[in-house]
Amino acid sequence: MSHFRLSSFGTRYAGDTGISELMSDISSPPADPAQPLCMLGGGNPAIIPELSEAWAEATRATLEDPGFRRLVGAYDSHIGPEGFRDALAERFSSDYGWPISRRNVGLVNGSQLAVFYLVNMFSGMFPDGSRKRILLPLAPEYVGYADQGLDPDCFRSQRPTIEMLGTHSFKYRVDFSALRTDESTGALLVSRPTNPSGNVVTDAEVLHLAAMAREAGVPLILDNAYGLPFPGILFAEATPIWNEDIILCMSLSKIGLPALRTGIVIAREDVIDALAATNAIVSLATGSVGPAVAERLLRSGELLRLSREVVQPCYRAKSLRAQQIIAEALGELPWALHASEGAIFLWLWLRDLPVPTRELYRRLKARNVLVLPGEHFFFGLEEDWPHARECLRLNYAGDEALFARGVGILAEELRALYG
Ligand SMILES: Cc1ncc(COP(=O)(O)O)c(C=O)c1O
Repeated sequence: MSHFRLSSFGTRYAGDTGISELMSDISSPPADPAQPLCMLGGGNPAIIPELSEAWAEATRATLEDPGFRRLVGAYDSHIGPEGFRDALAERFSSDYGWPISRRNVGLVNGSQLAVFYLVNMFSGMFPDGSRKRILLPLAPEYVGYADQGLDPDCFRSQRPTIEMLGTHSFKYRVDFSALRTDESTGALLVSRPTNPSGNVVTDAEVLHLAAMAREAGVPLILDNAYGLPFPGILFAEATPIWNEDIILCMSLSKIGLPALRTGIVIAREDVIDALAATNAIVSLATGSVGPAVAERLLRSGELLRLSREVVQPCYRAKSLRAQQIIAEALGELPWALHASEGAIFLWLWLRDLPVPTRELYRRLKARNVLVLPGEHFFFGLEEDWPHARECLRLNYAGDEALFARGVGILAEELRALYG
């Protein structure tokens, strides 16, 4: 049967782009079904029993609530239910003194969608005929942004400086000496903590970026999917930051509800209004179950307590253990890990790797080990950077024994490659 012809939108978005390949890796059968699959790719959070139980209880209470029929039987607002938006604005204004109300809070079906809207609201063709791009101050950045621009060339990114913290440890820093905004900058965008590297852009760096954005008359989009105060997967010194120059994106995914697809945007009212109008066209309305369930834990204070007392310590311990496993398995090889300051990944730099990490990814996939090759994360760079072919992203949130098995297989492949 011949295929229908796709538009340029269809060919671009239906192709095997980084993120769609990654998502199909998550659900495809392993190369060898007789052996265990070591899933170190993908972005699935850990299943934490105490957290799952809290969500199960909040869901039961929501189901038993007399308002349940209306909750699922009617479309809610095109920018999300008011109850959760009120609760979030009240909590953040009282905890952080942010001057926000419900009108500064928008909910959409996942923060992936929120960033898609924002990227396209601030890049591409403008009514005055100008064309703008999104500036990523620190590559590598989240692969999920790479193909989001309806304008395919909508990102410009900046290499960081690399600070060695020890033989096997390094940290990226924003290179402010090279970072420039100009007429073609539509917004700045950074994930904090950063997917893939686990870097946490410092408070001073955030304020510097926000000041640059203000000077250029554009927003700084801060993607806080792993950050404070929830899910709180952050192990460095950092403060939640928002002001009118910042559009802060958050998510319920990494606090245990990826399947309920709830993304949160905190921004000036005019940005939320534009987002609401866009969301009505694309989604009609935002799913109301995730926000209703989460509102219970937000109002009771449990959401923030669980983040602080359960989620953060769980990931911190997992990260430390995963770092030990890597150190033991890779031993004398020329490897270094980015400082694990947050998020659910370890970012491994393999110096002078004889093949690109894309090839290493293929070899590992053939042995039931899924990782993410570094090349995907350096979109928007204007010049070639060999470092981009020497890094791997490893998700450490899953089962420790499978992580160790996967890293053991990685070590075998690396020993064969380095010779
Ligand atoms: C940095 C970052 N932003 C956004 C997302 C999307 O999250 P959501 O499930 O809320 O769409 C992810 C998912 O992995 C992510 O890592």
